[in-house]
Amino acid sequence: MTNILCIGAGYVGGSTMPVFASHCPEDRFVIVDINPARIAAWQSDQLPIYEPGLEEIVQQTRGKNLFFSTEVNRHIAEADIIFVSVNTPTKTFGHGAGRAADLQFWEKTARQIVENSTSSKIVVEKSTLPVRTAEAMERILNSNGKGLFFDVLSNPEFLAEGTAIRDMQNPDRVLVGGRETPSGRKAVEKLVELYARWVPRERIITTNLWSSELSKLVANAFLAQRISSINSISAVCEKTEADVSEVANAIGRDARIGSRFLQASVGFGGSCFKKDILNLVYLCEHYGLPEVARYWEQVVLMNEYQEARFASNMVASMFNTVAGKRIALFGAAFKAHTSDTRESPALAVCRALLEERAEIVITDPYALDNACEDLKDLGGRITYEIDPYAAAKNAHAIAILTEWPQYAQLDYERIYQSMTKPAFLFDGRNLLNHKKLYELGFNVYAIGKPALTRLVNQGIVAA
Ligand SMILES: NC(=O)c1ccc[n+]([C@@H]2O[C@H](COP(=O)([O-])OP(=O)(O)OC[C@H]3O[C@@H](n4cnc5c(N)ncnc54)[C@H](O)[C@@H]3O)[C@@H](O)[C@H]2O)c1
Repeated sequence: MTNILCIGAGYVGGSTMPVFASHCPEDRFVIVDINPARIAAWQSDQLPIYEPGLEEIVQQTRGKNLFFSTEVNRHIAEADIIFVSVNTPTKTFGHGAGRAADLQFWEKTARQIVENSTSSKIVVEKSTLPVRTAEAMERILNSNGKGLFFDVLSNPEFLAEGTAIRDMQNPDRVLVGGRETPSGRKAVEKLVELYARWVPRERIITTNLWSSELSKLVANAFLAQRISSINSISAVCEKTEADVSEVANAIGRDARIGSRFLQASVGFGGSCFKKDILNLVYLCEHYGLPEVARYWEQVVLMNEYQEARFASNMVASMFNTVAGKRIALFGAAFKAHTSDTRESPALAVCRALLEERAEIVITDPYALDNACEDLKDLGGRITYEIDPYAAAKNAHAIAILTEWPQYAQLDYERIYQSMTKPAFLFDGRNLLNHKKLYELGFNVYAIGKPALTRLVNQGIVAA
């Protein structure tokens, strides 16, 4: 039996370890966190995060070979392998503020491992970290003065929120980076064996430590770049009457381009894309590569432009004022099938509309608690409403900001009847049937498509 510990019971720790536990019934998995409320939630029927399939797998494994605890020190001492999946947000202070990764949680963890270890261990970086962090980690861990030796591996997590369990069960690839020493190779092999219980060997890639660390940042930078690229084209489409969905389809059929991640939208969100790109930008600056830094920074700037453009198009379309107008935001999560609102474009649009003194009501099937927490600085200026029909009642406009499939199934005739006229619908995810909505009476604005509005001919709409 191998004792496996995961430090950090967040999205990554909490969705990867149960999958490990289900495939490795003879090993023991413990997930620890310094946040007692989070651990209590993991031990209850109300898990702290929503992910399709997560509840079932936690129920299957919890109390058998998967345990949640706040006793970080005790479990460090018992562990053979330690995954570190603590948060690594963007630094908000000092040198590199706004760009570099804040490694304070990560470094505290490394020191805690040293203090509480009585045997040599394998330590696995699961958090996303700047390139060459493993070197610093090795240095802290191996100056322990106790004669212990720590192998540090990099095993970045590529799961996507909303499909985390499916991604973990059936990953495109698993990446394990390690030192090219006999001990390093042995550690890599141990982790590879763990994954190989359910992942075909040919999908497990082994590399040196730095390639592995860098690959995670680069993967997120490339994914976000595709979104910013198509979003930039959506702005061109809106000026030229080209349709971004048709353009995406036409270019995506080229096998060299491929069709995935070409869905134009109000913008990307989530805790990772922006932070990881800024981290890459900071690294480029650090290594004296300002041209490369500016290239990647533009991906983030384009995303901010898209969010701002969406909100200002709403205001312009609604006769250049939304002050005092009720606007229903459909969706707060940064994407469908998650309760996560971190860096959600919905919140950026919400803030921009509040600046214009709109009356905002937000609806979302799973993310209202998180949205309320994220927007608490705005006090009572926003209403939260779980029922989309109630949210839309008396509203001047609806904005679709998360692509929840249930929003495509609503009775829009009923919604239209309950709204203030003229009724506006802004589809920030190109989710709905725009022609049908237009026929119901809505003025419809989608991303990268000609507006379907009765007001254009009257010259009222600012194009
Ligand atoms: N969320 C994603 O989709 C995703 C995907 C891939 C990689 N990542 C990376 O994985 C890492 C974790 O992300 P997350 O979304 O799970 O973060 P999270 O904020 O949801 O969870 C991190 C947890 O670590 C805990 N923690 C912090 N310091 C600790 C300490 N010293 N001891 C014990 N617990 C501690 C926090 O209390 C928190 O519960 C980040 O580096 C992130 O970039 C995230």
